Amino acid sequence: MIEIKKISVAYGDEEALREFSLTVEQNQTCAIIGPSGCGKTTLLYALAGLLVPGEGEILVHGEPLHGVRKETGIILQSGGLLPWKTVWKNVMLGAKARNIEGEAVQEKAIELLNDLGIIEQRHKYPVQLSGGQKQRVAIARTLLIEPDLLLLDEASSALDAMTKEHLQNHILHLHQLCPMTLILVTHSIEEAVFLGQKIVVMKEGSIIRTIHNPHFGEENIRSNPEYFALCKEVRHWLYEGGERKS
Ligand SMILES: Nc1ncnc2c1ncn2[C@@H]1O[C@H](COP(=O)(O)OP(=O)(O)OP(=O)(O)O)[C@@H](O)[C@H]1O
Ligand SMILES: [Mg+2]
Repeated sequence: MIEIKKISVAYGDEEALREFSLTVEQNQTCAIIGPSGCGKTTLLYALAGLLVPGEGEILVHGEPLHGVRKETGIILQSGGLLPWKTVWKNVMLGAKARNIEGEAVQEKAIELLNDLGIIEQRHKYPVQLSGGQKQRVAIARTLLIEPDLLLLDEASSALDAMTKEHLQNHILHLHQLCPMTLILVTHSIEEAVFLGQKIVVMKEGSIIRTIHNPHFGEENIRSNPEYFALCKEVRHWLYEGGERKS
């Protein structure tokens, strides 16, 4: 279980998170959505242990978070690929750092690259890839370490609609296959409702609404009228939920 307790983060005078509290149960998924600059990436940085909140604390499985955990996978907005390494070497990087390099890992890497449609790019360097391909390499690298907590920042934003849905299906499938807590930041209402068991709408460093999604993981959810109703609710809070309520 992830417990975020009244954390505040400021960059100089600017407050990016204000007494932000949120609990995500173990193996649950939580989608964070909100306007640009509302503090979503800052929240993921704090959860990854890359940034220490000025106030409040974060508990992971009951333990206060101090620094980076090796079981936490994070995919940042920028992707973070090493330009001097090939796709294959970039994908193997996290596993190598954790000393899990056997044949089974290599087979799994091939499977992931296949699933994500980038197997043919494996000998290329990041500079030779499109934005969407780079993002998929970053995703493969993180999934390979089988994280217990996966943090995704705009993982599918640079992808075309079909690849995006494919990737969302893949993430959902993966979440069903190997249990992990998933916290994802997205600008897409549809993605938030597709991948979030809990959907958190943020504004100016705080939560303005938490919506529970009882249809999470249902087959054909995208054609379920209830899915559209949830999208509508999220849209309402995103665009019209100006008053701070929860
Ligand atoms: N390193 C930094 N130094 C100073 N201010 C920062 C820094 N990083 C973020 N900020 C500010 O903190 C606020 C929150 O930024 P953050 O990146 O968390 O937003 P975001 O919700 O992820 O936005 P986006 O949707 O555009 O990615 C913004 O106003 C931003 O300008
Ligand atoms: Mg961001």
